[in-house]
Amino acid sequence: MENIFFCSANIRSSLKEWLLKQNYSNIFILCDENTSKYCLAKLEFLYNKAFIYKIPSGEAYKNIETAQQIWSAMTAQRFDRNALLINLGGGVICDLGGFCAATYKRGIDFIQIPTTLLAQVDASIGGKVGIDFEGYKNQIGIFTHPKAIFIDTKFLQTLPERELRAGFAEIIKHCLIADKEIWNEISTLSWNEQDWDTLVEHSVRYKKIIVEKDFQEKNIRKLLNFGHTIGHALESYFLEQKTPLLHGEAVAWGMVAESFIAVQKGFIEKEDLEEIQDYIAGQFRDSKIFLSDRDVEAITQLALQDKKNQEGEIRCTLLSEIGRGIIDVPVAEYELQEALFYLNELNI
Ligand SMILES: NC(=O)c1ccc[n+]([C@@H]2O[C@H](COP(=O)([O-])OP(=O)(O)OC[C@H]3O[C@@H](n4cnc5c(N)ncnc54)[C@H](O)[C@@H]3O)[C@@H](O)[C@H]2O)c1
Ligand SMILES: [Zn+2]
Repeated sequence: MENIFFCSANIRSSLKEWLLKQNYSNIFILCDENTSKYCLAKLEFLYNKAFIYKIPSGEAYKNIETAQQIWSAMTAQRFDRNALLINLGGGVICDLGGFCAATYKRGIDFIQIPTTLLAQVDASIGGKVGIDFEGYKNQIGIFTHPKAIFIDTKFLQTLPERELRAGFAEIIKHCLIADKEIWNEISTLSWNEQDWDTLVEHSVRYKKIIVEKDFQEKNIRKLLNFGHTIGHALESYFLEQKTPLLHGEAVAWGMVAESFIAVQKGFIEKEDLEEIQDYIAGQFRDSKIFLSDRDVEAITQLALQDKKNQEGEIRCTLLSEIGRGIIDVPVAEYELQEALFYLNELNI
């Protein structure tokens, strides 16, 4: 795949070789406190050439204040339009750094070096970059491609287990909307028994094909939103609570709730829902949520704000069968609320 390098064998030499063919005036490496500790050493060969900027880790920093600090640092370093920004981190760094690069002096080149499973199979691929704003996820952002993406699954070795499992949710999603065969394989194994090299490449290939066909998300790219209408609303809601959910965890519960809606609408069988919920709930047991009436009301309000809606109506990507998605399905508020309450009934 052009511009996506699977380089678990040696990311250092792949990156070095690529950079030699370019002609950048300056290099800015954006990392967070964890990726500077666990991942930055792989870019040691750039230490004397690059300006390294570290931000605190976490979703709470994917905001306009941090973006401003990054633009300020680039300005102070007198970076011109021929500079390169290297994003070394998870989805937060890839989204935030990509957004800063795309807007600094009307856009400088950037590359993604995703270091979480979620960023490797999802956030770094597809050209969506942005920041959260006023409590809404990815409220401000643009579509723009990085110059290249370097994927090394060895970075996953230092990733906390909870983060690894959350990234696995996006792999589950890709299988449920597009590949029943791989779903059948992964669903016989627990999340920590999976073969990441194979699954990451499979997911990346699938996402890349979809994005190439529909960059601006006018039609089939919406397939990738399975689990995300409810997932994003849950994520936004719990972001403000004492126990935030990781993006992947929210998507995992979103996929179960949206599969419930698919049964209610007669798209899939009850047995399909049970197959999906048994596996997902089993894997994500310890991030189970319980929603009160008030929670459901607030989450519904957030779902009504979803960027994927049309004419004020909630639109979801659902499953028409395991291994096949269906886009733009209108979902009534009461259907959404029933699905949220259904999560409380899961017997795990
Ligand atoms: N742009 C897109 O298409 C897209 C798609 C999906 C998700 N996202 C976004 O991605 C974000 C979530 O990404 P994430 O789950 O990667 O979160 P993240 O970037 O916050 O990383 C998770 C945690 O892992 C740490 N970390 C990263 N790499 C590590 C490593 N190799 N070893 C040890 N620790 C490491 C980070 O410091 C952080 O604490 C959300 O903001 C979401 O909106 C974007
Ligand atoms: Zn996602």
